[in-house]
Amino acid sequence: MMSSGMSLFVAAAAILNTVAAVGLLVWMRKRRGETAQTSDTTGHTWDGDLREYNNPLPRWWLWLFVLSVVFAIIYAVLYPALGNARGSLGWSQIEQWEQLQAEQETTAQRILSVYADRGSHELARDPAALSIGRNLFANNCAACHGSDGRGGSGFPNLTDQDWLWGGSPELIEASIAGGRMGVMAPWLEVLGEQGVDDATAYVMSLSGRQAPKGNAAAGAVHFNSYCIACHGVDGKGNPAVGAPNLTDNVWLHGGSASAIRATIAAGRQNNMPAQTDRLGEVRVKLLAAYVQSLGDR
Ligand code: HEC
Ligand code: HEC
Repeated sequence: MMSSGMSLFVAAAAILNTVAAVGLLVWMRKRRGETAQTSDTTGHTWDGDLREYNNPLPRWWLWLFVLSVVFAIIYAVLYPALGNARGSLGWSQIEQWEQLQAEQETTAQRILSVYADRGSHELARDPAALSIGRNLFANNCAACHGSDGRGGSGFPNLTDQDWLWGGSPELIEASIAGGRMGVMAPWLEVLGEQGVDDATAYVMSLSGRQAPKGNAAAGAVHFNSYCIACHGVDGKGNPAVGAPNLTDNVWLHGGSASAIRATIAAGRQNNMPAQTDRLGEVRVKLLAAYVQSLGDR
């Protein structure tokens, strides 16, 4: 929909144009009467002797013009042509598109209904279901998780066995259906620069990495007071809150000392959008099956 000012402007321009075209026709008819078979020139001369005649338009051309004006008027009455006016047929591009979509959705639902009663774990071994899942993944998930499902910085790899929110068929399906929000609080204010350095050193030592600067022992004290609530006493994480395992050297936000430090200092908020409302339950199940099959490889 255009704004009403814009709509008025467009409608006025269309009407004015048609009126001007009719005016031009009337004027041409008058001139035809006056100057039939005239040999008046416009006074322009090119190349010495090439003169421009000022003859009225040929008749066939005039009729073409009349026809297009008539066509424009009929079109404007039947179809939406004047700004937001609907046209007497009530046709609209959007409605036509919505209708096509609805027809396609009906066809799709017929195909999908075959899978409605089977669990995603079972579908993960059905090649036909996986092939639909693969297409759905390419269209709806690959933008964030990568076409191969391996993710990227901030977007989890779905092909490894390392799950933020749990890797059972039910939990994978729940991640897709309802979405997930991974929230890691910022700690700079609580710990200070030195404290964040120490915590970074300790986190790196958890996966057997060389700690850069800072004191891992001091970091361990912070970790035990502030971090174990989510990441666990042993740092292996907690799928109930989406807290990652910090001991496996698999990193969601990058494994360099500076990336880890940045996560601890400023926190992270990471959103997986819910899919059931967009795609419906059966598609979500087929996607869950496909994601499970990625982990099997
Ligand atoms: C806008 C980006 C985006 C899109 C689109 C998206 N995801 Fe995600 N997804 C994420 C993010 C970010 C996370 C991690 C959330 C977190 O940090 O806790 C995630 C998490 C997940 C998880 C949980 C992973 C784990 O380790 O527990 C699964 C499963 C998943 N996505 C599957 C999908 C599927 C299937 C689709 C397609 C329907 C999809 N995602 C579309 C961004 C996206
Ligand atoms: C309230 C729960 C909670 C607490 C407390 C918490 N974290 Fe986290 N942490 C998370 C979550 C959830 C994520 C994953 C964020 C995401 O999904 O993007 C995370 C991510 C991280 C990461 C990034 C891991 C990766 O794979 O990139 C590091 C490092 C980290 N936390 C360290 C700490 C440290 C150190 C503390 C204590 C100072 C701490 N966390 C306290 C919930 C918590």
